[in-house]
Amino acid sequence: MIVLKAVSFSYGKEMILKDIDLRINEGEFVGIIGPNGSGKTTLLKLMNGLLIPNAGEVEVDGMKTNIQEQNWEIKKIAGYVFQNPENQIVGITVEEDLVFGMENVGLPVDEMKRRIKEVLQFVGLEGFEKRSVNSLSGGQKQRLAVASILAIGPKYFLFDEPTSMLDPNSRKDFLQVLKKLRESGKTIVMISHDLEELIECNRLLFIYDGRVLLDDKPVKALKDILENGEMIKYVDIPDSIRFQILLEKYGLIDKKDYLLKKIELIKVVKDLVNTF
Ligand SMILES: Nc1ncnc2c1ncn2[C@@H]1O[C@H](COP(=O)(O)OP(=O)(O)OP(=O)(O)O)[C@@H](O)[C@H]1O
Ligand SMILES: [Mg+2]
Repeated sequence: MIVLKAVSFSYGKEMILKDIDLRINEGEFVGIIGPNGSGKTTLLKLMNGLLIPNAGEVEVDGMKTNIQEQNWEIKKIAGYVFQNPENQIVGITVEEDLVFGMENVGLPVDEMKRRIKEVLQFVGLEGFEKRSVNSLSGGQKQRLAVASILAIGPKYFLFDEPTSMLDPNSRKDFLQVLKKLRESGKTIVMISHDLEELIECNRLLFIYDGRVLLDDKPVKALKDILENGEMIKYVDIPDSIRFQILLEKYGLIDKKDYLLKKIELIKVVKDLVNTF
């Protein structure tokens, strides 16, 4: 469990995060949205001790980020994946990159070899061991970044806009990896501006001016955002999700498939009418 207790944080004079209480349970997929500069990345970096709060405490499985030895242990169980994979990759070859993190946590050579195979297969980069990281595409680099974290064996994955630099194909590949991580029981906290990626999450948090304004099931949270003149300015809700929100509002969510078929039928009829 990741627990933030009355956490405040500032980089300088200005308070960036203000008195945040938050709990991320094991196995959850928690999405984070909010305007630029609202404090999302800062919040995520506090969750594995990349940043230490000025006031309050962050605990991961009972260990505190502000205690140095515990901070080190926390980094092993809570891995951070940066928005730009270039900031994460340290090796010249794929294998070296994977080994770097594993050496840091003192894994034996045989175990490293086993894990290299396993994690590359997991992210769909099998056979890439000797490839130079410079020869990888953006999407492949992002998947290598995930593999390098995975090799250390964390329970928690913290993703900061992992798809924002990926083309649609690479994004799909990454989302497959994300799905597999979820299926293998990992806890995921992910910042994204793309709601399609977060609609399946257990909880959606809306961060605004350093506070958690909403923390709810995604469709419920988005309904609140839609009905709020201020918040909706910062969130782009795709039509497919607006449709789900409306169905939920009118108690028709169980009829979704049926209604979608009707809509398809209406489109066909419209097309036919236009043809003749
Ligand atoms: N290293 C830093 N030093 C000083 N101020 C910083 C630093 N990093 C972030 N800030 C400031 O803290 C505030 C929150 O930044 P943060 O990166 O957490 O926002 P964000 O919600 O992730 O934004 P975005 O959607 O643009 O990624 C911003 O005002 C930003 O300018
Ligand atoms: Mg950010």
